[in-house]
Amino acid sequence: MSHEVYVDSVKATIAEASPSDAGDVVGDTQRQTMSIHEGLAGVVIARTEITAVNGERGALSYRGYDIGDLAAHSTFEETVYLLWHGELPTRDALDEFTRSLVADRDIDHRVWDILTMLPKNIESMDALRTAVSALSCSDPDDGDRSRTTNLIKARRLLAKFPTIVAHVYRHQQGLDRIRPDPDLSHAANFLYMLNGTVPTKMQADSMAMAMLLMVDHGFNASTFAARVTAATLSDMYSAITTALSTLKGPLHGGANVRAMQMMLEIEDVDNVESYITDALARKQRIMGFGHRVYKTVPDPRSAYLRRRLYQQCAELGDFHFYELATAVAEALASRKGLNPNVDFYAAPVLYMLGIPLELFVPVFAISRVAGWTAQVMEQYANNRLIRPSAQYVGPKNRVYHPIEER
Ligand code: CMC
Repeated sequence: MSHEVYVDSVKATIAEASPSDAGDVVGDTQRQTMSIHEGLAGVVIARTEITAVNGERGALSYRGYDIGDLAAHSTFEETVYLLWHGELPTRDALDEFTRSLVADRDIDHRVWDILTMLPKNIESMDALRTAVSALSCSDPDDGDRSRTTNLIKARRLLAKFPTIVAHVYRHQQGLDRIRPDPDLSHAANFLYMLNGTVPTKMQADSMAMAMLLMVDHGFNASTFAARVTAATLSDMYSAITTALSTLKGPLHGGANVRAMQMMLEIEDVDNVESYITDALARKQRIMGFGHRVYKTVPDPRSAYLRRRLYQQCAELGDFHFYELATAVAEALASRKGLNPNVDFYAAPVLYMLGIPLELFVPVFAISRVAGWTAQVMEQYANNRLIRPSAQYVGPKNRVYHPIEER
């Protein structure tokens, strides 16, 4: 069959199947099934066994365990094991898991060489994204998408994220890199590699709890993006690169930085009322407030982080950030009925740990990478290409004019 005959036969088949739409483009879906869900709000696209987010009750659980119980009794490492394997580990399994995580902390010199070639003022999230791309090149298992291999990739990514973020930051500051300390927990080791001093128990616990509470949250934007990439059967590193790019945006991971900047700008509890009044009058979005899922109840993570902030302040005997944050939350609740989300109280918790503002989003990623990788593995296990549709609203049936005639 000649090419022309083939094209004519395809056109004839289309006209026969849908005579009214022949030559009339209406979108990339059937006219009769078209209903639009802006921002995919309320659309359920898959089943998951990882995280349950209940927006009406303000409840959140990982693999069936309430985050309150995990925050009170578990560790970050144990919670990651739970996310990846579906069950809490035995003592031996946790020890083995922790040992393998510690063993994977160092980054390959080829990855470091690439990072040092980047401009020194590059944003940390861009450096982290570049590092993940580079890591895929130095992964001997690249190309193998079995669950066993993906668990190893997930572990490598999780183990190396704190090292990459701390090393890039210190390099940018003209400071020496600090090698990971195998005797420290995942959270404590990050603070150590960043600040150069072993954190106190309170600091290490605060970091671990913040990471545990941020580790996964259903089909949020970055997780969804990772799953879209995985659903094409692209590899784990590509999916995590997509997730990093998505987390970076101010309406997602970037909100914690802006929430902290706002608190620093407000400076004093006495300024809260006038600041919030002005901001709302200018129709400004207050970062760290509002949520797509928790519309009428507070984000449950914010309550645990608020308590943690109180404990940190109590240890220092300085309640400035607790009082300031509480006053801002009260002002938003009374004027707009808006509740704080995870980013609001996480911001002063991280700030008081000595984490610089430019690392707030990478710190979110250091934790969330465990959730992303769990979600990617779940996507591979029961995969279907994710491909929504759009309603075409542009011009139709236009006549093509050669360039000389336009
Ligand atoms: N400050 C002021 N007004 C707000 C805010 C806010 N932070 N959040 C929502 N509103 C208002 C918004 O102006 C709108 O009012 P109106 O109906 O009068 O126009 C109404 O509430 C609904 O807002 P929306 O943008 O339609 O809600 P959404 O579900 O599309 O957006 C959100 C959710 C998180 C993007 C939004 O609340 C927001 O921009 N918050 C600030 C950014 C932020 O804190 N992001 C972190 C989210 S939690 C971490 C994560 O999961 O990524």
